[in-house]
Amino acid sequence: PLYQKAHYLKSAPDLSHCPEDEGYEVAFAGRSNAGKSSALNVLTSQKSLARTSKTPGRTQMINFFECDENRRLVDLPGYGYAKVNINVKQAWEAGLSAYVEQRECLRGMILLMDVRLPPTEIDMVMLDWTLDLGLPVHVLLTKSDKLKKGPAQANLLKLKKLLKESYPHATAQLFSSLKRQGVDVAWQKLDEWMEY
Ligand code: GTP
Ligand code: MG
Repeated sequence: PLYQKAHYLKSAPDLSHCPEDEGYEVAFAGRSNAGKSSALNVLTSQKSLARTSKTPGRTQMINFFECDENRRLVDLPGYGYAKVNINVKQAWEAGLSAYVEQRECLRGMILLMDVRLPPTEIDMVMLDWTLDLGLPVHVLLTKSDKLKKGPAQANLLKLKKLLKESYPHATAQLFSSLKRQGVDVAWQKLDEWMEY
């Protein structure tokens, strides 16, 4: 099991501090508090690989986790969190866009959205941007344990319709880190991208 072997490699404030651009990477992106770090922990079967927090904006660096010498998972800083110094915010957003646009080894993006909330403007920008870049996206509709089955499924179908119409590079599923829902499907997607 490749992902269970993941261990912390390093944190980088921007592209120039990232590890060598070799092998394959899958990056986890989404608004602050969407559940990126929690999902990473569940998918690697580790309690505290990535730091989670009730305080949005906890992850402010690009964090690299190495699965094996050729493959890494990457926890990106959450976007859309305003309560930080504007210069810090701009600096990390710039670091983030350079990473996504220029990182050759980036194979796909796991985009996390809270199942209870409609996609934000920045979520839509991410979808447009990755479409332009030709970067495959897989959306995890997170915290699915917070909704009943019917409403969760309805939100998934609504999103899938949008993706089918305008974002053919993207797929989607329900996910709960708390209940470990959707882990196998997410692993399949990672395997697809990470097959070396
Ligand atoms: P930043 O690093 O700030 O961008 O946030 P993040 O996207 O990494 O979110 P994180 O994983 O730290 O989770 C944010 C909060 O949501 C924490 O309080 C988690 O416990 C909670 N959370 C994450 N996933 C789930 C889930 O599947 N179900 C429920 N109920 N809560 C969750
Ligand atoms: Mg985080």
